[in-house]
Amino acid sequence: MELFDLIQTRRSIRKYTKQKIDRETLEKIATAGLYAPNAGGRQGTKILMIDDADLIEKIGVINANCENRNWNAGVSSDQPSIIDDKTIQSGFYGCQALAMVCIQKRSKTAVNGIGTAFVCAENMVLQACAEGVSSVIVGRAEATFQQPELEGLPEKMGLDPDFMPIVFVCLGYIDGPYPKAKPRNEGRLIFYP
Ligand SMILES: Cc1cc2nc3c(=O)[nH]c(=O)nc-3n(C[C@H](O)[C@H](O)[C@H](O)COP(=O)(O)O)c2cc1C
Repeated sequence: MELFDLIQTRRSIRKYTKQKIDRETLEKIATAGLYAPNAGGRQGTKILMIDDADLIEKIGVINANCENRNWNAGVSSDQPSIIDDKTIQSGFYGCQALAMVCIQKRSKTAVNGIGTAFVCAENMVLQACAEGVSSVIVGRAEATFQQPELEGLPEKMGLDPDFMPIVFVCLGYIDGPYPKAKPRNEGRLIFYP
């Protein structure tokens, strides 16, 4: 698929089958993240990739409940989020692999540090789409690992102690039909002159 078509048809997916993603494909998706633009040329992100579904579920349940989810955002009708459907247990929606994009702790309030993490996540999302793997970006990473049950876990999994997860990318094969692209709101593109 042409990149432009892929960008226009990609959707955030929140229903996954139990099919695993093979290691080679996960490496390719993660490598796309490592090649993302990065502030100051510092390559300031690290990616911690988990493909243990039980552990993903455990972290996902904590992720779903670590901040207030009782607001009515109407995120998605065809791929409901934890805000839309309060019966969803895991903030990672049963995905089979989880990429945690990590940055240095001292960068967590720096716009360039956070921006570097999110462009890394977006590169992974697009590469995943090209591989036929669905995804959704999920937030609340800092709050998730502040919960007592998970304290110190990233370090135990091999992350440098001065790094922290800042955003998640859920990865898996879609369960059900792929949703249609959402139309874009008017007035968001301004040309000058
Ligand atoms: C910074 C960021 C944080 C997001 N956090 C979440 C999240 O915590 N949970 C979730 O289900 N989706 C999350 N999303 C996905 C958005 O809800 C989704 O991109 C948006 O509704 C547009 O839908 P689409 O990606 O299908 O076009 C996040 C997206 C971004 C860019």
